[in-house]
Amino acid sequence: MRSILIVDADAGFCERARAAAERAGDVRVESVPTIDGALALKGAADSELLVVGPGICTADALAAAGTISRAHPDMAVVMVVPEESTDLLRQAMRAGVHDVIPADRPWEEVASAIGAAVSSTGERPQPTGAASETVRRGRTVTVFSTKGGVGKSVVACNVAAALAGMGADVILVDLDLQFGDTGIMLDLKPERTIFDAVQCYERLDAEMLRGFLIPHASGLRVLLAPVHPEDADAVTASRVASILGMLRELAEIVVVDTSASFDDVVLAAIDVSDEVYAVATMDVASIKNTRVSLQKLAQLGYDAGRTKVVLNRADSKVWLDLGEVEQSIDAETIARIPSDRLVPRSVNRGVPVVIDAPRSAVARSLLGLARRIMTEGEVTGDVA
Ligand SMILES: Nc1ncnc2c1ncn2[C@@H]1O[C@H](COP(=O)(O)OP(=O)(O)O)[C@@H](O)[C@H]1O
Ligand SMILES: [Mg+2]
Repeated sequence: MRSILIVDADAGFCERARAAAERAGDVRVESVPTIDGALALKGAADSELLVVGPGICTADALAAAGTISRAHPDMAVVMVVPEESTDLLRQAMRAGVHDVIPADRPWEEVASAIGAAVSSTGERPQPTGAASETVRRGRTVTVFSTKGGVGKSVVACNVAAALAGMGADVILVDLDLQFGDTGIMLDLKPERTIFDAVQCYERLDAEMLRGFLIPHASGLRVLLAPVHPEDADAVTASRVASILGMLRELAEIVVVDTSASFDDVVLAAIDVSDEVYAVATMDVASIKNTRVSLQKLAQLGYDAGRTKVVLNRADSKVWLDLGEVEQSIDAETIARIPSDRLVPRSVNRGVPVVIDAPRSAVARSLLGLARRIMTEGEVTGDVA
């Protein structure tokens, strides 16, 4: 039987949350008015889930979540908050919070999110003394630029296919939720998409999510963007964060393609990423845009060391001096990808250029980037 702790000063909230948790499974629920009180309970450390109510000061809840995720990594924390914001989501993710549920939604929604948290928390195996099997956790890399048309999807699809070709177990996720085109670039039928996965979000776990991945001939698996732009709304930032967490259990490397924006969903992906590859083209507007977005990421508290710049169409006619570009962006450039007509040709064919024309200069530079990502941390010489 799973053990759930509910914390809120409002006994009414605790009772409703208890009912929601009990509907979701065989659980033992204790409710306490303060976090300190909850953690002081005998056996608190063995609880599978802590639900923090909207009556608890958000800062205290975040601090407690941070402590819990370090001291008791098996305990999931979900926060029901008076008001959701990008800033709060970001802090919550950083503190290791499983899900953030806005309290201003109809109670059925709040209840079903609590139920989903209960169902996704597995009962802990009793310690047997034997070394327990650890869940294999992959790396997440996000391809980013707030400018459209710079080549994010080309880079993401080719790097993912190249990594798969090198024998890595790779999942590509299309988080350009309204206009995702990785399905077209890889010639995949959108039989199942991330929208279908969130339709059963309450029951979703890594195993179930596996069924929503579309296999590509390269060995890569893809979680496609919704078919209809209006379906993007259902794919919220907190759901994306938890889906990306599940995907890490299913692959060695998760490559995330993003939309040209700085929205909650993109931030959620960046938040869980081990590395961020900012794609820029060699024109003044793109360079300025990249500099500004990297500065903004730094202001938001992201570690600049995790961000690397990929220069696409690096030989295009509007030539800028590479040294100036690097100085202006103030970040390490790890790949230079030439402009080549083979790229639009491969996009139209639905075959990544690393497969369509692997010996071309453009494919070689993309393969070089994939190798860099594969062996991130090692110095592999000059950029392509
Ligand atoms: N290195 C390149 N050489 C030539 N064309 C490119 C290159 N990279 C991207 N393109 C073209 O630019 C278009 C936009 O690229 P895309 O990856 O869709 O951009 P984004 O995802 O950033 O919006 C693609 O359809 C492709 O034809
Ligand atoms: Mg794109």
